[in-house]
Amino acid sequence: MSDSVVIIDNAGVRIIRMNRPEKKNALTQPMYAAMTRALREAEAGEAIRCVMIAGAPGTFCAGADIAEFLEAAQSGALRPSTVEFLKALAHSRKPLVAAVGGIAVGIGVTMLFHCDHVVAAADATFTTPFLKLALIPEAASSLLAPMRMGYARAFSMLVMGRPLSAAEAKEAGIVNTIVAAAAVDDVALKAAREIAALPAGAVVVSRALMRGRLDEIDRQIDTEVMHFRERLQSDEARAAFAAFLSRKK
Ligand code: COA
Repeated sequence: MSDSVVIIDNAGVRIIRMNRPEKKNALTQPMYAAMTRALREAEAGEAIRCVMIAGAPGTFCAGADIAEFLEAAQSGALRPSTVEFLKALAHSRKPLVAAVGGIAVGIGVTMLFHCDHVVAAADATFTTPFLKLALIPEAASSLLAPMRMGYARAFSMLVMGRPLSAAEAKEAGIVNTIVAAAAVDDVALKAAREIAALPAGAVVVSRALMRGRLDEIDRQIDTEVMHFRERLQSDEARAAFAAFLSRKK
């Protein structure tokens, strides 16, 4: 386990906390790998009945690490950890709760489509600036977002990159509950405990019935990955990554 991801098991709930606040929890390959391991371990036994994904105060996750994007674009090396994380999320049989304490960007938003219950801070924002980076949506969001929020809203968010406020995300069906920032973790943990207290076998079957076809979701992730890798190495994407990394604040 790396320090940038902290795992705590508490009364049937596994908390996976992204912990790289100095970089707004931008996800690196070791972080994806640690989160994947944590999800797979939770899957393996009976002890964990619900998983909660959390961030730092004010920051849920600023998306993938753009410095790693640039490295991958330059070396042409394909990094498997991100895809393994997406698959582990999509294949989780254990229910997933998210505690969104602030900024959510890119995969910080799209991972929420795989969660069953999302608690957000009143000032949280949800942005997917894929196109600004000359990239395309991932994590099966190109399938799940139109289903969840309707095509028009999904296009505005995923393609135009328009941010959603917490209230808009709730209205769009991404968020269940909005609370004060300081209460996000507690309220999410309470919901996770509530789910963990339900009959485990019935929860697993219910959510599998409700989450749609996993083979379709898998195929969408694979197709997105194919295009994403191509886009990642385009000149326009490299220029966008370099511009972000050298920006003046
Ligand atoms: N990848 C790499 N580094 C990132 C990052 C990312 N996705 N998001 C933030 N950081 C880094 C910043 O470069 C900065 O590093 P520095 O202090 O060494 O300069 C640090 O995290 C703090 O970020 P900063 O931009 O100063 O914070 P902010 O509160 O002003 O803005 C964001 C926060 C998330 C709005 C802004 O950082 C941002 O737009 N990040 C990029 C998000 C993105 O495009 N993600 C990929 C989606 S596909």
